Amino acid sequence: MNSGSLQNPQGDSSATELGRFIPQHYHYQMLLDEARMLGFRTALELVVPVGGRVLELGTGTGVLSFFAARSGAEKVWCVERQPDLAERARQLLAANGVDDRVEVVTGDAFEYLPPEPVDVVVCEMLHSALLRESQVRMLAEFRARYTERFGPQLPVFVPQATLLGIEAIEFDFDFFDYRAPLPLFEDPSNPSNRLKTLGPVTPYKIVDYMNAPVESIAYQGPLGIEIAGQCKALRFVTKNILAIDPDAAQNSEAPGAGSPRGEHGIVEWMNQNLIVPLPEALNVAAGQALSVGFAYQPGDEIEVLLSTLTVASTD
Ligand SMILES: C[S@@+](CC[C@H](N)C(=O)[O-])C[C@H]1O[C@@H](n2cnc3c(N)ncnc32)[C@H](O)[C@@H]1O
Repeated sequence: MNSGSLQNPQGDSSATELGRFIPQHYHYQMLLDEARMLGFRTALELVVPVGGRVLELGTGTGVLSFFAARSGAEKVWCVERQPDLAERARQLLAANGVDDRVEVVTGDAFEYLPPEPVDVVVCEMLHSALLRESQVRMLAEFRARYTERFGPQLPVFVPQATLLGIEAIEFDFDFFDYRAPLPLFEDPSNPSNRLKTLGPVTPYKIVDYMNAPVESIAYQGPLGIEIAGQCKALRFVTKNILAIDPDAAQNSEAPGAGSPRGEHGIVEWMNQNLIVPLPEALNVAAGQALSVGFAYQPGDEIEVLLSTLTVASTD
């Protein structure tokens, strides 16, 4: 999903993961996110075999299960743990004419297994930097349960992987003369004019959902600077590889504007960038490197990242 500051119905945002308690009106924002919708629809069209079987973990309004059914799936099981949302998904899927093929299960996706093996599993519990939502743990635990029941042959996962990176930036935290250096989110398809990048994106983690164990996400190393300026913040970039088109991978034709297909037939979708202010701006010169360190567990709150973050100039 996209980022935002939300509380669960108990008003307690710290003790729980965001993705578990997304209110219904926020799902509208997810439906409006064209890059997200187009990316998942394209990926499902690519990987769902005609007559195939699909499982969706965390179905929300049911839209990804609808895409799976429209891509030719004969049977889709989808699991949603919020009963009101599961009921809403049932209504919407019926109104959109796919309820004969899509079965909505009200329950905990951490426990659910489909009655038979599936070809594809789709799960969108993605948040910037893989913080705040359950994607990594959800798919790791699913893999273990699934292989124990059905054997070693895994379904195709959508997304297949998530790539995480950081870059040094200048950022104007002045709002009508009110200086407020707070963590914030930025739409990657509509970069803020408050922002100037100072160097390239440095990758710090690749999470491959077919194999990834739930382990700490950590970085301790250099962050390159190519343009002199004042480093005021770090930008955390989250790119999801939703699927890979083997035919397009052979085709050298450049993808069209607005297409979710990147180079080499990769269907991708980026979460909102997370911008984290530094306690103090650092003057940086071209060719210099900063020394950066942080560590967090997938699904942690942003505060965990902030509390471990260190950034220092190197000579
Ligand atoms: C980011 S939303 C995505 C919804 C939908 N798949 C879409 O793409 O529009 C994640 C959904 O997963 C559900 N969810 C989170 N944890 C869950 C769990 N353990 N079991 C079942 N559903 C869960 C949330 O309630 C929410 O509806």
